[in-house]
Amino acid sequence: MSDSATLRFNNKETQLPVLTGSEGERGINIEKLRSQTGLITYDDGFGNTGSCASAITFIDGERGILRYRGYPIEELAEKSSFIEVAWLLIHGELPTEAQLRGFSGLLTEFQVLHEDMKYHFEGFPPNAHPMAILSSMINASGCYVRELTGPYDPRKFERHSARLISQVRTIAAFAYRKSRGLPIIYPKPEYKYTANFLHMMFSMPYADLDLDAAAVEALDQIFLLHADHEQNCSTSTVRMVASSRANLFASTAAGVCALWGPLHGGANQAVLEMLEKIRAAGDDGSRFIEAAKSGDGSHRLMGFGHRVYKNYDPRARIIRERCEAVLARIHRSDPLLDIAKKLEETALKDDYFLQRKLYPNVDFYSGIIMRALNIPVEMFTVMFAIGRMPGWIANFREVMDDPKGKIYRPRQIYTGSTERHYIPLGERK
Ligand code: CMC
Repeated sequence: MSDSATLRFNNKETQLPVLTGSEGERGINIEKLRSQTGLITYDDGFGNTGSCASAITFIDGERGILRYRGYPIEELAEKSSFIEVAWLLIHGELPTEAQLRGFSGLLTEFQVLHEDMKYHFEGFPPNAHPMAILSSMINASGCYVRELTGPYDPRKFERHSARLISQVRTIAAFAYRKSRGLPIIYPKPEYKYTANFLHMMFSMPYADLDLDAAAVEALDQIFLLHADHEQNCSTSTVRMVASSRANLFASTAAGVCALWGPLHGGANQAVLEMLEKIRAAGDDGSRFIEAAKSGDGSHRLMGFGHRVYKNYDPRARIIRERCEAVLARIHRSDPLLDIAKKLEETALKDDYFLQRKLYPNVDFYSGIIMRALNIPVEMFTVMFAIGRMPGWIANFREVMDDPKGKIYRPRQIYTGSTERHYIPLGERK
């Protein structure tokens, strides 16, 4: 017997099918709810709404599990690389040697932006936030790919997705150089993805950056850990935009904007700013924790809490473990790490945080590693965007490959005025 749920409304019963995912998650299929009952559902913030079926990423927030295409994040973080994971997310399987070579070749082929793009960068004011530049430039770089304006072509997808993954990194580095008034550094074909990014960020025309293998590995891992996270705010945005059949570059540029906010990807910047403020105030973290419990939202403990994880975010655990190791390997120490650890220790013993199941999330420690790599704080969310690009692309592809191809169009419960009539300007009170 296939499962169904019964809804009784106005003395009429309606059977609603229950769907079961491959990991046993269950959801009531309400596709026919409105046509059969006249009702819609209301779910503020979508906390109980499955907006799609997806085969990309699995999260069990209660048990702190995250898997990309079935592979545990811990295994991928230990054994894989960002580029291999990018392929896995987009294509569904780990690449063969030939596939990985081909993909790397495409990343190299596309790493340089069209030369005219340099003039776009000049249009931004000094100190423009690099997330604004990133979003605009992704959209602008799409204009140089003529076939993107036509219908989605699966045969071209591998090239388009490689182009986007490669160029987001070049755009990000150029945005940083522009914001600091520094000359642009072009990528080098002999460097791998993450090393090339650090080169474009920090080399000078007269002296190449002395690349530190530990730094490259740490940043590659940060990209990998951010590569996908199922239907979060930015990924849902990408899917929403893609559902209108907007192109890959336009859809992911929208994802960058959604990611920018401090409750989402912008939290990594907010965490560092919070830690700096705590240090400047001479607080060891305990006064801030008290303020964070006030409930007025003005002092949230940034980097804590998650809509889905009601347990330790597995990415935070990996980053926390690596944080000290990375600082030691690149011969740095950071007083902000001590404050972060003290905040965590205090919060995890405090009833306020325990009762609400608020644990450190991915952003809590990632900023400390990025700071150690000299990445400026305003670039932190850009790092998240570079990392998340493969996940957005994989989700874009799923939307495009869905044979039903429905545009995403939620409904609402209207709470405004009922019908009323226009009053001419002179008669209004
Ligand atoms: N500090 C203090 N209180 C908090 C926090 C926090 N960081 N997060 C949630 N709460 C409280 C909140 O005030 C509420 O309390 P009450 O029940 O008394 O009203 C309760 O916990 C539930 O909070 P919520 O805002 O309803 O939870 P949510 O699922 O809507 O929000 C969140 C999730 C991530 C937006 C939120 O926890 C938050 O603002 N955290 C800080 C920002 C942050 O670190 N964001 C990064 C998320 S992970 C990276 C990513 O995927 O983007």
